[in-house]
Order: sequence, then C-alpha cells, then structure tokens
Amino acid sequence: MARGPPIPKLLASRLSCIRNGQMVLRDINMTMHNGGGMILTGPNGSGKTTFLRVLTGFLKPSAGHLLWNGHDVTNSSIYELYKVELHWVGLKDAIKNKLSVVDNVEFWETLEGKSGRSRKALEFMGLGHVMNEPAQVLSVGQRKRVQLARLLAIPRPIWLLDEPSVGLDKDGVQKLEYIMEEHRRKGGMVFVATHVPIKLKDAMHLQFPPRILKSKTYMDLM
Ligand SMILES: Nc1ncnc2c1ncn2[C@@H]1O[C@H](COP(=O)(O)OP(=O)(O)O)[C@@H](O)[C@H]1O
Ligand SMILES: [Mg+2]
Repeated sequence: MARGPPIPKLLASRLSCIRNGQMVLRDINMTMHNGGGMILTGPNGSGKTTFLRVLTGFLKPSAGHLLWNGHDVTNSSIYELYKVELHWVGLKDAIKNKLSVVDNVEFWETLEGKSGRSRKALEFMGLGHVMNEPAQVLSVGQRKRVQLARLLAIPRPIWLLDEPSVGLDKDGVQKLEYIMEEHRRKGGMVFVATHVPIKLKDAMHLQFPPRILKSKTYMDLM
C-alpha cells in the first residue's frame, strides 16, 4: 500500500487570538515539517510575538487548533511532551549578572541533564574571552550572543526566536543565520520574527498586516 504524505510536525489550523478585546491573530493556517523555517514580519503590534507565544502553547488561542505530531497541544499530557521540544529566545534574556558568562549557559545545560557543550557554544559565538567574567560586563549584543549560545548548548528541535537580531552586529547576524541553517539541516525547525532582513533559505513567510485600532488619532490626543 502506498504511504500517504507524512503528517506535519506542527500544524496550525484556523488559529485566532483575541487580546485586550482585539482580534490580534485571525484564521492562521500553517504546516511545518522537520527542517522547516518561517519568517514572521509586520509592524510593531501586528501580532508576531503573539503568534510565537501561541506556538509555545502557553497562550491559548481563542479559536482554532495547534497540533504537534497530530495531537492537540492543549491536552495536558501532550503539552508536557511538547514544551520540552521548544527553545525560546526573546527580548528578556534571563541572564544573571552576578554569575559568570559560562555559568549562565551551563546552568540551563545542567537542568537539561547535559554537559560539555556550553563552553564550545560560547566560543563559537565569539565569547570565549569573556566566558569567566561576571555577565554584567557584557554589552547588549554580547548578551544576545549568550542567548544564541544557549540554543547550541541545549539542543531542542523547535526554535522560537523573537527578534533575535536586536543588538547584534553584522558578524552576530551572520552567526545567527548560520546556526539556524545548521539546525534545520539536522531536522530542527525555526520560527523567527524580525524587523531586519534575515536570511533563511526556502523559508515560509508570514506577513502580519498592520492592525487598525479603534483608538483616537494622534491629533485627538494632543
Ligand atoms: N501581554 C499582553 N496582554 C494583552 N494584550 C497584549 C499583550 N501583548 C500584546 N498585546 C496585544 O497584542 C497586540 C500584538 O502584540 P505583539 O504580538 O506583541 O506584536 P508584535 O510582536 O508584532 O510587535 C498588541 O497590539 C496588543 O494590543
Ligand atoms: Mg514582538
């Protein structure tokens, strides 16, 4: 018997999300297989972070379904398995200033029951020379590099990256593009919300429209 097409690793079906009484996401459909990539663009407030949060399963959609391997992630036993597949990089970096740079990565690696990757990850991200310094010495861009080093040190298949290029220089963006590509080559998935152009080969593109707010105009407020 001929085999049918594989079920998608992730499937969003008519996902909608209402926040603050406003429809932020409306009827989003998406499928993602191993090795897939998706770029999310749109103006501030258009729903990029909301979409990524819904993908974490933490923010519940108001309508529609998110399926992982064909199972609804709102089912609590499925969610327990799903959440450990995810890796989130957002604006809050969860870096403890008093800990050394390497401890800020190793801490998470140890929680995951793993060891031996943090130092290599930091070296790859160009932070080898500050590894033993307290994290408070890091610049904004270097802190972002620590977050990216965590992606490498704690291997998880689904990357949810919310504006990961913020603070990065050109070399940092190139490293980001490289690790996303390598991750997908090994079968991982990448979702990336961004304002600046980021190269992601053969990626899907979800462009959120500006939201028309029923609020006063700037002139009304003056
Ligand atoms: N924590 C929140 N609580 C309630 N509403 C929110 C919250 N965060 C965002 N929103 C609403 O969702 C809309 C989309 O926000 P967001 O997804 O953060 O946009 P983007 O990431 O594209 O800038 C915002 O305009 C706001 O109305
Ligand atoms: Mg956002």
